[in-house]
Amino acid sequence: MKSVNVAQIAHELKLTQAGVRKKISMGELPILQAGRAFISTQTGIDYYKFANEHKITLNSLKRQAKTLSFVNHKGGCSKTTTAYTIAALLHSFGNKVLLADLDPQGNSTQSVLDPLVNAEGIIIPFVKTIKDLLLYRKENGSVGVNRIKEVVQTSKFGFDAIPCDLSLNSIMQDLESSSFKEVILKELLNEISAEYDYIILDTPPTLGFSVISALTASDYVCIVSLAEAFSILGVEQTVNLISSVKTQNSVLANPKAMKILGTVISKAEMNTNISKHFVNELQKFTSERDITLFFDDIIPKTTKIPETQATGELITDVDPKGEAALSYFNIAMLMDMEVKKDRIKEKLS
Ligand SMILES: Nc1ncnc2c1ncn2[C@@H]1O[C@H](COP(=O)(O)OP(=O)(O)OP(=O)(O)O)[C@@H](O)[C@H]1O
Ligand SMILES: [Mg+2]
Repeated sequence: MKSVNVAQIAHELKLTQAGVRKKISMGELPILQAGRAFISTQTGIDYYKFANEHKITLNSLKRQAKTLSFVNHKGGCSKTTTAYTIAALLHSFGNKVLLADLDPQGNSTQSVLDPLVNAEGIIIPFVKTIKDLLLYRKENGSVGVNRIKEVVQTSKFGFDAIPCDLSLNSIMQDLESSSFKEVILKELLNEISAEYDYIILDTPPTLGFSVISALTASDYVCIVSLAEAFSILGVEQTVNLISSVKTQNSVLANPKAMKILGTVISKAEMNTNISKHFVNELQKFTSERDITLFFDDIIPKTTKIPETQATGELITDVDPKGEAALSYFNIAMLMDMEVKKDRIKEKLS
């Protein structure tokens, strides 16, 4: 229902259908592919107009990664699903993207990287993970781009990823005892920021050291919530945590850092009164604090998402015309436009 086809895009942009196809092939018009057909949305058309209007300035920007973390200390509210789906979409828009998994559960690692299998067919752990990079940085200072690249893997969706597993837990105490501990991750990511447009951080369901490190390293934050009481409490606590990290690290962190790009509502069942009620609560909470709520792009609860995780696919590939895919598609473009608007402002200031 929110999708538009090539004929509709052509009509809106006053182009021929062949002209639209050409723009798609040149990567200027974001699309989802439904079989042999291309589909987009009104946000996709707005994205094209924005990118076209600022083409010269955007092309003149130096590659300088913006770090975006996905947070909510409430477990199971779709942080991981949202983080890697947005990473894949940002990559499909032509950005160079790195996803760093900071959750010892390793769910985004398992979602985007094919497992390593030995000769006997047994799954073996990644030789090096984010843990090794953090430890190295703590012990030796600069890690160096080449050593970081040894840990970076190419995901099956095209973007890069730094894996994580349970071993991250084992060094947490070690890291927590070091001075300037919160900036170790930020400094590590700074070493490779010239290689990427976006560094996406998937965080664990805690308010602990990993999340504080992720926030400290973040230019932008996306809060992910379910339309239910505990998850909304998690949104509130996350907003408070961001304020406290900003205050405590004011000397270290850029004052413009940790900008909340928006709140994504996931697994909503908008035909139920309970979901409607909590979406309303979230609307009140976010509008009082001037936080964007992706209200027009709520991710519905759908069995297709767990199914894609079982098959190792993306919802945008499996069900591109479905509401979940179109909502993620729109959210990724809205985020990308917001970040690029900030970059244009930075450049012009
Ligand atoms: N829109 C959706 N509809 C139905 N199920 C979903 C949807 N999004 C995610 N899920 C399922 O919900 C579960 C939790 O999702 P996910 O792992 O992304 O959450 P999380 O916030 O990262 O969890 P954790 O706090 O454990 O890291 C997964 O089984 C996933 O398949
Ligand atoms: Mg997760």
